[in-house]
Amino acid sequence: MVDYVSIAAGEPVARNGSIKLYGSDGFEGMRRAGLLAAETLDALAPHVVPGVSTQELDDFVRRFTLDRGGIPATLNYRGYTHSCCISINHVVCHGIPSEKKLKDGDIVNIDVTPIIDGWHGDSSRMYLVGDVPIKAKKLVDITYECLMLGIAQAKPGNRLGDVSSAIQSHAERHRYGVVRDFCGHGLGRVFHDAPEVVHVGRPGTGPELRPGMFFTIEPMINIGRADVKVLEDGWTAVTRDRSLSAQFEHSIGITEDGCEIFTKSPTGRDAPPYA
Ligand code: MF3
Ligand code: CO
Ligand code: CO
Repeated sequence: MVDYVSIAAGEPVARNGSIKLYGSDGFEGMRRAGLLAAETLDALAPHVVPGVSTQELDDFVRRFTLDRGGIPATLNYRGYTHSCCISINHVVCHGIPSEKKLKDGDIVNIDVTPIIDGWHGDSSRMYLVGDVPIKAKKLVDITYECLMLGIAQAKPGNRLGDVSSAIQSHAERHRYGVVRDFCGHGLGRVFHDAPEVVHVGRPGTGPELRPGMFFTIEPMINIGRADVKVLEDGWTAVTRDRSLSAQFEHSIGITEDGCEIFTKSPTGRDAPPYA
């Protein structure tokens, strides 16, 4: 059973399986958190170059967030001790920042989630490191298109399955694999909330979309098969066939006539090229 609860301004929010419907205070809070996520991803672009370590990029994210009054939601989240996730090439998601350096030709996802005044802005983008092969660039482009086609279906009267189906059909039209093991999620006062936003599905199925629903859409798309495995570290998810994987993520809120993208880049840098 899907149940929806309206959340009044300042009301405590529990992670209890119900879908929250936030009001104008929620939209205002998410605009601020989403903007900081977008500004962080914008500011990272000139630093994502060959030779930089992913730990240096994590340090940049932590400092940028704290300097602006935010807190990285991933810091000390379920034992995770970094300020973002950095997933290179065949890493699907949850790559852990380390001393490993980026190299020419890599494709990299950086996923940030600043908390501002209790509101969570969750977003990720792909970055191209130096000269990237055309096949990899195409994967990145199509993955961004998948996200935006999903967002185009996010409006009252539609169901979550309409979003999922738009993503799946575009990816599969290009013979890519859509990852099943990780999904988008409700968010707002909490980081990961109901509903689960899966990236495969059939039109007209799943929970109906209502104004005030806040959730992420974050498709992970593989050049090869959809299958993933999680490494020994308990976090890093990779494609089983070692094929390249890409992901973009926005946090959105359903409005009366569509949706608002909280994490849109203020400078139009939502997808590469960023220069
Ligand atoms: N930001 C990720 C998401 O999109 C979650 C990362 S949780 C972490 O939901 F602990 F791995 F950082
Ligand atoms: Co994220
Ligand atoms: Co997310």
